[in-house]
Amino acid sequence: MCGIVGYIGKREAYPILIKGLERLEYRGYDSAGVALLNEGVFSVHKKKGKVVELKKLVAHKKLLGKVGIAHTRWATHGIPSDKNAHPQLSNSGDIIIVHNGIIENYLTIKKVLTKKGYKFYSDTDTEVLANLIEDIKKNTKVNLGEAVRLALLEIDGAYGILVLAKDEPDTIVVAKIGSPAVIGVGGSKTNPEFFIASDATPIIEYTDRVIYLEDREMGIIKNGELTIKTIQNKIVNPYVHKLEMKIEELEKGGFEHFMLKEIFEQPEALHSTIRGRLIESDGNIKFGGLEKFQKELKNLRSLTVVAMGTARFTGLIGEYALEELADIPTKVEYGSEFTYRKKAIAKNSGLLAISQSGETADTLNSIKEAKRKGMLTLGIVNVIGSSIAREVDAGIYNHVGPETAVASTKASTSQVLLQIMLAIYLGRMRGLTKKEGQTILKEIQKLPELAAKTLKNSDQIKNLAKKYKKIEHFFFLGRKYNAGTAMEGALKMKECSYIHAEGMNATELKHGPLSLIDENFPSLVIAPMDSMYEKSKSSIQEIKARGGLVIALTTEGNKELEKIANDVIYIPKTLEMLTPILAFIPMQLFAYYIAVERGNDVDKPRNLAKSVTVE
Ligand code: AGP
Ligand code: GLU
Repeated sequence: MCGIVGYIGKREAYPILIKGLERLEYRGYDSAGVALLNEGVFSVHKKKGKVVELKKLVAHKKLLGKVGIAHTRWATHGIPSDKNAHPQLSNSGDIIIVHNGIIENYLTIKKVLTKKGYKFYSDTDTEVLANLIEDIKKNTKVNLGEAVRLALLEIDGAYGILVLAKDEPDTIVVAKIGSPAVIGVGGSKTNPEFFIASDATPIIEYTDRVIYLEDREMGIIKNGELTIKTIQNKIVNPYVHKLEMKIEELEKGGFEHFMLKEIFEQPEALHSTIRGRLIESDGNIKFGGLEKFQKELKNLRSLTVVAMGTARFTGLIGEYALEELADIPTKVEYGSEFTYRKKAIAKNSGLLAISQSGETADTLNSIKEAKRKGMLTLGIVNVIGSSIAREVDAGIYNHVGPETAVASTKASTSQVLLQIMLAIYLGRMRGLTKKEGQTILKEIQKLPELAAKTLKNSDQIKNLAKKYKKIEHFFFLGRKYNAGTAMEGALKMKECSYIHAEGMNATELKHGPLSLIDENFPSLVIAPMDSMYEKSKSSIQEIKARGGLVIALTTEGNKELEKIANDVIYIPKTLEMLTPILAFIPMQLFAYYIAVERGNDVDKPRNLAKSVTVE
């Protein structure tokens, strides 16, 4: 998910690798490392923290070697620490690897290797792959390229890897599924050199000739020659692109801001949230982190969801799913209030903390309080090894990669999805049938594609932003599953564009807020074609009757609202409980584009911090 860099050629590799890591820093990471191969010896240096810490660590060392690999890690297996940082060595020290992504079946492979006598010194899935490659190379006497290929045939998951072997100093192997990998072809015919990285930013200053590896392809650079093949061993004729972008454009993946990049990463983020977790045959979900708590989860009688900001709004959506699918009375609380509220805790009640950063003090404190009261504590967290991830009894990771913009986007859609998946998981321990589970799973599988389709309307939203950019007040309204969506839409608008916005259940309107409506006070009404459609339509009519402007957000194919509302945004059809995931996207874009129109610092809105570690 973060960064890999590799070099092989006639120059000293270290300066190229370390600069490459710095260029990849924008991707976010928690540790960094580098390995060089020189005269048959690997020198490996790695450190938790920023690249600058790694630089300090090696400042007085002589780092020689014309081949090397480097890494920035975003922990998925094991906390951020020096030992879990990459590169990871195999047991004999003959193979070294850097890896971005997740190896899903690493535990099965680890068991087999452990039986063969392999020892593991880190918590990573990566170390398992290093040893698998070593095992294959030793037992089948093949070269590094072939050993890596055979190993990859045995693994499931996502990866971008770079591998070196001590006894083959002329070789570097790169492969990928899911994570990106680019090979830069530099030097001359007589003096070839190759640069490999997660994107072209570390490469562009050395060469403009690059090859983008496709999924399930690998590149073997041996003796100055590059061969590309599939992991099924079919040779591929590579297409060499000519890079025309400047470095500044390449950073942030070509997007103007992190927020936009992260909004557009949502199809992939949803995919990563689902990966390896759907058991279609049983209409069920697999959550590795909950396995040890089967008995407690079966006995769970009620659930309190604690979170702040966006995460809390996703809780208001999850609440409906947990009640509908798992039949568990659920209540959403501010993390901060849970700690100070005096209330009776019934037997077998659980606490679910939701937090992107895993560091939000208000949420963290409520977990400590819940534990004191004997509740089972669960977490949905994005940052591995964060305080909340460590504090809860059992946790589920989002696996959406680092979120850099202060405004939460890709983590939030993943939070909604994970709560629905948790509701299925708990539901299958109760009354939810296999068939019902399977129906929802089928729709969940389509989400990444539907999110991508939703993003295709970004130009329309950009135009709407131009139209509404001068407005100073906004209502965001929705019902049932989409009441929380409306609140999140308003929060995005407030924090990015500095426009006053209120999000609420649309039914509330007639109990007071309607008096604010006039031609300068527009409302965005979320009205998908679902069980609440007629009610939401009535709200739109109530607003229109008072001269208010309405942007309606509805399901594709429903032309009716074009006659009533001023503007209509469409999202693809999905299950009612999944609509918030798609509805979040145009609202994020709307807030983003208005903020850009108003010249705001979108990624770092004034007065705000990414993680709020104070009460
Ligand atoms: C989201 O856009 C906000 N920046 C903020 O509300 C955030 O969701 C809240 O502070 C909770 O953060 P957490 O998910 O890291 O706990
Ligand atoms: N799964 C690996 C780990 O936890 C790689 C993480 C990454 O993508 O950086 O170490």
